[in-house]
Amino acid sequence: MTITASTFREEAGRLQPKLVEIRRELHQHPELSQEEFETTRRIRGWLEEIDGIRILELGLKTGVVAEIEGAMPGPTIALRADIDALPVKEETGLPFSSTIPGKMHACGHDFHTASIIGAAALLQKQAPQLKGKIRLLFQPAEERAVGAAELIAAGALNGVDAVLGMHNKPELPVGTIGLRSGPLMASVDRFEISVSGKGGHAAIPDSAIDPVVVSSAIVTALQSLVSRNVSPLDSAVVSVCRLEAGSTWNVIPDSAILEGTVRTFQPETRERIPALMQRIAEGVAQGYGAAAELKWIPCIPAVNNHSEMTEIMRSAALAQGLNVVEAAPTMGGEDFSLYQEKVPGCFIWMGTSGTEEWHHPKFTLHEDALAVSAALFAEAAVLALASVQMK
Ligand code: NI
Repeated sequence: MTITASTFREEAGRLQPKLVEIRRELHQHPELSQEEFETTRRIRGWLEEIDGIRILELGLKTGVVAEIEGAMPGPTIALRADIDALPVKEETGLPFSSTIPGKMHACGHDFHTASIIGAAALLQKQAPQLKGKIRLLFQPAEERAVGAAELIAAGALNGVDAVLGMHNKPELPVGTIGLRSGPLMASVDRFEISVSGKGGHAAIPDSAIDPVVVSSAIVTALQSLVSRNVSPLDSAVVSVCRLEAGSTWNVIPDSAILEGTVRTFQPETRERIPALMQRIAEGVAQGYGAAAELKWIPCIPAVNNHSEMTEIMRSAALAQGLNVVEAAPTMGGEDFSLYQEKVPGCFIWMGTSGTEEWHHPKFTLHEDALAVSAALFAEAAVLALASVQMK
C-alpha cells in the first residue's frame, strides 16, 4: 500500500475531535517558558496513547522529544512545535478559556502542539511504509528564545537531516499557508550602552558633563544607522526601548543607560551592526567629553528558509489541496532559526482565520486548521523522507 495525500486528509478529519480536545486542554492550562511541567506531562501522555512512538529520554526539564521509526532505513526529518504560553490575561470569553490567572496561550502554541501530535498519529499509522525516521520536537521556552538551544544542547537534533515548523497566522484563512524561501523572520539581538559623564548641580551645567544630553544625542544619531549604513534593498531595525538616568529633578546624574534591540534579515548586516553602533555611541559621547560603552548581547539568528525544504512544503500543501501564498516576512524573531543553523529547514505561516494579532488578550484561531496542519505536516514529512539526502 502506498500513502496518498487523501489518506492523510481523511485520517486527519477523523482525528479532528481529538485534536480539538488536546488543543482545548492545553489552552485551559497555559504555562510560561521553562515552567511547562504539566504541559510536558500531558504531551507525553498523548504520545504514549499512540502505539509505537518512542519518547527519547534526553534529560529535559520541560519539553518532549520523540521518534517514529519507519520500517525501512532513510533520513530523519524533524517536526517542531513550541509549547509555552504568555503572561497575558485572557479576554476571549471562550468556554475553554485559561484557568490559570494571568497566563494565556495568546500565541497559539497550544494549536502548534496539538497539530504536531496529530501529524505524529498520522505518520505512526503509516510507519510500515516509511523510509526513515520522524523526530518530534515539542520545544519549551520559545517566547524567551531559549528553548531551541536547550533542545539542541540535549541532543534533540542529533541524526536529524532536515526540520519543518510553523507559526499560526491569524490574517491568513484556514486552508491557506504562507511560504517563502530565504529570510522569513528577523534575527534578534539586544544591546546596552552605558554613558559616563560627570554629575553636578542642575543650575551649574558648565561644571558637569550631562549624560542625559549625551544619551539623547546618541539616540538621535542611531537613527541614521539603518538609513545610512544598511542597503535600501535590505532591512534592519534599531530600537532604543529603555533610557534610564538620574533620580531627581535638580541634579545632573553622572551616568545613563540605553537599552534596545536590533533586528536584521541578512547575516552580513547582523555582523556589521555592533561595530557601527559602537562607533556612533563612542564618537557622539566623545564629542561631548563623555564616554560610552556598548554591550552587545547576541540572541538568535534570522529564520532563513532553505529552498529545497520550501519546495517540499509547497508540494505537500498543493497535494493537500491548500492555497499557497507568498509569506510576508516579519521583523519578529523565532528560535526555530537555531535548528536551521544546523540542518536545512522550512518554517511556514499556517492560516488560522484569527481575529486578533499574536499576544493579544482576545487572540483566537479557527480550530478547523488543526486537521489541516496535521495532514500537511504528515504529508511534508513523507515527501521529505523521499527527497532529503542523509548526512
Ligand atoms: Ni508564537
